[in-house]
Amino acid sequence: MSVISFARGVPAPECLAVDEIADCAKVAVERGGPSVLLYGPGGGYGPLREWIAERHGVEPARVVITSGSLQGFVFLAQQLLPKPGTRVLVEAPTYDRPIKILKRLGAEIVGVPMDDDGLVLDELPEGDFAFLYTIPTFQNPSGRSLTLERRRRLVELARDRGLLVLEDDPYGLVRYEGEPLPSLHELAGGEGIAYASSFSKTIAPGVRVGYFVLPTELAREVEALATSTYISPPFMTQATVHEFLRRGNFEPNLERVNGLLRARRDAMLEALERNLPDGAVWSRPDGGYFVWLDLPEQAPSLADAERAGVTFVPGTDFFADGSGGSSLRLAFSYVTPDEIGEGVERLAAVLAGAAAPASL
Ligand SMILES: Cc1ncc(COP(=O)(O)O)c(C=O)c1O
Repeated sequence: MSVISFARGVPAPECLAVDEIADCAKVAVERGGPSVLLYGPGGGYGPLREWIAERHGVEPARVVITSGSLQGFVFLAQQLLPKPGTRVLVEAPTYDRPIKILKRLGAEIVGVPMDDDGLVLDELPEGDFAFLYTIPTFQNPSGRSLTLERRRRLVELARDRGLLVLEDDPYGLVRYEGEPLPSLHELAGGEGIAYASSFSKTIAPGVRVGYFVLPTELAREVEALATSTYISPPFMTQATVHEFLRRGNFEPNLERVNGLLRARRDAMLEALERNLPDGAVWSRPDGGYFVWLDLPEQAPSLADAERAGVTFVPGTDFFADGSGGSSLRLAFSYVTPDEIGEGVERLAAVLAGAAAPASL
């Protein structure tokens, strides 16, 4: 019996436009020549920087392209956390990798509760914080999105308190239902919000192209950190992404990917409805990769789940204080609709303490 993974929050192989990306890589090198094969500016490949700047209505000097957005998060956190013990606000739960990075840098992490409408702003503590890290749209891990009304309030609140908000938005365009929500960055007119996004979910994670739109001075500082870390960004993949965009492939590819993801989300929600016991509750995202499952009691151990042929990420990984013991993150991006149905049956069997079905 092969294990069905609800742990992998990555695109399925069929989401990747392999031939098109290969052709873009070839043309990018032929067209760019030395400009993509030599060392160059730490802020990234000029034409891609300009494309991003235009899309976000800012000067290219405010855009820094990094080797994946997580690399940019490290630079930004290094810059904004001058000494151990500096306090940072995060959503509780939040993406596990930033928790690890912030801990490594010695930050004091303060979690702010969420509900179905996203971050609970009434619970946002006052005081000095280096920044608030938030994923307002189809959050990793919960799949939840901050409502428009709360977005407006958060922008206002951050402005009033002088709180820097780091908006991480890799899933904003991965929407397959409902009306798009404006980013915090847009609502703030591009001021006071550090915005991050990535081509990992819209083109391919292996290109390692993420980016930040920052206040000018912070962009300069992050660019300096990038240069001192790797001398020069990998222009070949940045130019490949630029070629993909230049050809007009981005929107049609996104539509195709979102169609695949929608079928998986539907399969996940239907299977949960069919199989899970009373008292279990879960999020119903209009996009992204994740469903967050809250159980009335302690979540099963990973070892038990693996024995039954299914994996997930335990909720505890997404809280800086180790809470979340009755929750789990279920990623539906990597597995097919049939596998999702089977995986949820196996999970339900583990929850019921019964033997898992033996098929598949
Ligand atoms: C919220 C969030 N931010 C950042 C990343 C990392 O993106 P990248 O591949 O651009 O480093 C992920 C990847 O899963 C994510 O879920």
